Amino acid sequence: MDFLNLQAPKGTRDLSGQEAVHFTELESVARRVFGLFQFVEIRTPIFESLALFSRSMGETSDVVEKEMFTFVDRGERPFALRPEGTAGVVRHFIEEKLAVKGGPHRFFYMGPMFRAERPAAGRYRQFWQIGAEHFGPSEASVDADSVVMVAKILRDFGLTKFSVHVNSLGCRICRPRHREALLTYLKSKENILNEESKRRMLVNPLRVLDSKEDGPKLLDAPAITDYLCEDCRSHYRQFVTLLKENEIPLEENPRLVRGLDYYTRSVFEFVSPDLGAQNALAAGGRYDELVGHLGGISTPAVGFALGMDRVVTARKNLPTNSGKKHPVAVVVPLSEEAVPLCFSLSQQLRAVDVSVPPVTFGKKLKNQLASAVDFGANWAILIGEDELKVNQVTVKNLSTREQSQTSVDKAISLIRG
Ligand code: HAM
Repeated sequence: MDFLNLQAPKGTRDLSGQEAVHFTELESVARRVFGLFQFVEIRTPIFESLALFSRSMGETSDVVEKEMFTFVDRGERPFALRPEGTAGVVRHFIEEKLAVKGGPHRFFYMGPMFRAERPAAGRYRQFWQIGAEHFGPSEASVDADSVVMVAKILRDFGLTKFSVHVNSLGCRICRPRHREALLTYLKSKENILNEESKRRMLVNPLRVLDSKEDGPKLLDAPAITDYLCEDCRSHYRQFVTLLKENEIPLEENPRLVRGLDYYTRSVFEFVSPDLGAQNALAAGGRYDELVGHLGGISTPAVGFALGMDRVVTARKNLPTNSGKKHPVAVVVPLSEEAVPLCFSLSQQLRAVDVSVPPVTFGKKLKNQLASAVDFGANWAILIGEDELKVNQVTVKNLSTREQSQTSVDKAISLIRG
């Protein structure tokens, strides 16, 4: 028999305890913010055709070249676990012919993504993203709204320390001029480039600037911002101005190129000062060519994804702000006959938003109360033979230890506060 490995696969982990609580809290903050910006939820498959990802993210991106979990099904069809959410949402937009249906088309999603990266602090093989995609408008104000939306999610979650790097990658008019200048520059530096950069230079010179090893040696490379056409330049200026005027801590960074190929015009990255090497909390940008490139009716779009693992880590040491708290109570039967009444009383309490653990009988009262306190209970309701006889319950305040007998209705209103 094969040895059964009882460890989570490399680069993955279980989320439990406080960390799971923080994930849920972040999800509910994001849902509320998406509601305010009028985005609707979409849940796409965890796996899609391999070609969807390679065509959208670009054959020369790191993710496509070496980080996808791929497999073939029984019919020899190639698939990949989704390394990001944008491609699936774009596939949905095209498949459902949304370009010809009345808009607006604004989606948000949350869930696990998969990249076979080298595991490190803040870099996992299964990680979690919250993202949003907006199809239709091409105005800079919509790009700025994406950034503002991320900032609001982070701040409402309690994370206020971040800066936002922004850049413009231009469009099909200005990019070729920059590409040409960049290629000439890179050729002049060929002797200091590694083999991978030399190969990438010919397919996608912009990608060379993103190289961890060679990027820092190329700080004087021609910056795309110096090559922008008139339209892209004014789009970018408006994007930057709107953000500056709306309390976004901005850093214009002409070196920001992003690791995925689909971007045009605005790109942005939220950076945390507290995370070490993997410091990108969230990132995104405009991708006006992608829908057309994948065979849909050409439609501008902009979006972002936030890395939940990193956001939760960055805000780990701050106090939680889980919003409105429910009162918490435990209902304990002191005799077996009291179980049915305790059971139905638990339902009555939950109906008025009091949190109550499942009713159990036979455990020591002391242990039950101790475990209830661990779960945040302030109240216990005890029902035994004496209480049943007089049709009352005993209510115990678990902080003051005071207790008294009263009617069920009075007990419920006492606990609700
Ligand atoms: P991305 O920059 O590849 O963009 O990922 C977005 C965020 O996901 C990163 O900033 C980071 O917080 C988190 N992340 C990425 N890889 C890992 C990993 N291995 N472990 C932990 N966290 C990770 C995208 O995915 C684009 N789809 C964003 C977008 C949406 N652009 C337009 N629309």
